[in-house]
Amino acid sequence: MKIIIAEHYDELCKLSAVIIKEQIQAKKDAVLGLPTGSTPVGLYKQLISYYQAGEIDFSKVTTFNLDEYAGLSPSHPQSYNHFMHEQLFRHINMQSSHIHIPQGNNPQLEAECKVYEELIRQAGGIDVQILGIGANGHIGFNEPGSDFEDRTRVVKLSESTIQANARFFGGDPVLVPRLAVSMGIKTIMEFSKHIVLLASGEEKADAIQKMAEGPVTADVPASILQQHNHVTIIADQKAAQKLREASYS
Ligand code: PGA
Repeated sequence: MKIIIAEHYDELCKLSAVIIKEQIQAKKDAVLGLPTGSTPVGLYKQLISYYQAGEIDFSKVTTFNLDEYAGLSPSHPQSYNHFMHEQLFRHINMQSSHIHIPQGNNPQLEAECKVYEELIRQAGGIDVQILGIGANGHIGFNEPGSDFEDRTRVVKLSESTIQANARFFGGDPVLVPRLAVSMGIKTIMEFSKHIVLLASGEEKADAIQKMAEGPVTADVPASILQQHNHVTIIADQKAAQKLREASYS
């Protein structure tokens, strides 16, 4: 696990955007795994500027999002589908048929999960998987206690995640869906060739310390990344402040 400490959020965004740019320059039909949340917003802005400057062509790129709320239609303003189009896709030249986000309002959600898993397999896996991390150590919506063998499935959001995400629902936790579809930990571990986890802010400092330096445990789902052979953690100084070992750049 390589840990890079960025001075601030902007640097974190630039460093992660360069990884994606180089991946697409090396392989035009790269497959990317993408997260939602506050953390990747600056990364997406940077990717849009690379596109506008002619440095990245997204026309052959395929994407798979990590998760989506259950019960929300793709056009719902709080859906992750809507978020991704607003923050990234509508600004770049992605082909819409190459964009994959679980359909949270599919009445056959279990079948949706199986098909999603199969689509990633058929795409040949994910070249670069970008992850955020929850203050509780979750990756995607794989909350503490998730089984490391889980694949894409319907999950129940933890109370802390509902509270954390209420800010996207006008601050009202009652409006946050209780269920979601998420790639599982096994999906992420097995299909991702390179995992890049981004963390910004002191509320992530405990999770980053436990993930990188603590035991591998289902209580901290991100700790499983210690067992993946190509992981880059990019944390800003606030998120990295509780790391104990000094060997990080
Ligand atoms: P955030 O969410 O980027 O909004 O902090 C990250 C996550 O919960 O995975």
